[in-house]
Amino acid sequence: MVKSLAESAALTSIPSDYTYSTKPIEPATSDIEDDPIPIIDFSLLTSGNPDQQSKFIQDLGKACEEWGGFMLINHGVPENLMKAMIEACKDFFNLTEEEKREFAGKHVFDPIRCGTSVSGRVDKILLWRDFLKIIVHPEFNFPYKLTGFSELALEFCKRIRILFRELLKIISKNLGLEECYIEKTMDLESGFQLFAANLYPPCPQPELAIGIPPHSDHGLLTFLTQNEIGGLQVQHNGKWVNVNALHNGFFINIADQLEILSNGKYKSLVHRAVVNNKATRISIAIANGPSLDTIVSPSVELVNSESHPGCVHSNEI
Ligand code: SIN
Ligand code: FE2
Repeated sequence: MVKSLAESAALTSIPSDYTYSTKPIEPATSDIEDDPIPIIDFSLLTSGNPDQQSKFIQDLGKACEEWGGFMLINHGVPENLMKAMIEACKDFFNLTEEEKREFAGKHVFDPIRCGTSVSGRVDKILLWRDFLKIIVHPEFNFPYKLTGFSELALEFCKRIRILFRELLKIISKNLGLEECYIEKTMDLESGFQLFAANLYPPCPQPELAIGIPPHSDHGLLTFLTQNEIGGLQVQHNGKWVNVNALHNGFFINIADQLEILSNGKYKSLVHRAVVNNKATRISIAIANGPSLDTIVSPSVELVNSESHPGCVHSNEI
């Protein structure tokens, strides 16, 4: 695990297999006043006020189309639950290497896996992060040793599934589909949900190492929360933009299956995690989508044979 490497005394440079870039990674063109990450207020939707609701619907449509992601605030998931979840992840990563090894897992479909990098055994370039991944839905029985953790994680993930399905109704409508189109065509009752916690310890050469390289996510929508330390960057109009940690907010991004379903109207957001030399960052990303055997194709309503021909995407992690 990179945590114990980072904690080893007198580490002043990174081992060569952690060198992601030989020249410093370009910093994000961050904090651009006139180009901020959209902030969407969920309480507008639940206000019961039709003007506020239509503002929510419009704001969400614009954010999905122009950014592929947004910060969701006033979403109703209690602040103490969000904090407790981060603390529980911290406690998990603070277990000894031997205790964590019990949850190592071997296969990408194992319901619980803890490790480092993507696969520390085969990666040529190692990532400056440790992870814990748990498939929480459709079903999972947590190991009894994680009792306190599992109660929190189940409650946290249940709240996110509710929000996810509410957002998808609006997204369906914004795409010009029936409100329940995505819900019905994808049977989200038995949908897939992955809990992924990441730990990025302080790194002596943060400009040469990477937490997670640029990628887009699997699924429909990913929800991300983190401790107070930033590190997530998103690609927007060819630039990298910092996603500043927002108190009690979820950063939500469009993932590959929603790009496919929308026939490219919404783009899956490319993002990366950079590291720093000052403080440990913990993030929790919850990926939500249909069950793993679902083949996602563009909604027929959004396929126009001349200007928007469709394509098909099969599910994989
Ligand atoms: C991820 O992309 O899975 C996590 C990114 C982050 O830690 O901010
Ligand atoms: Fe991601």
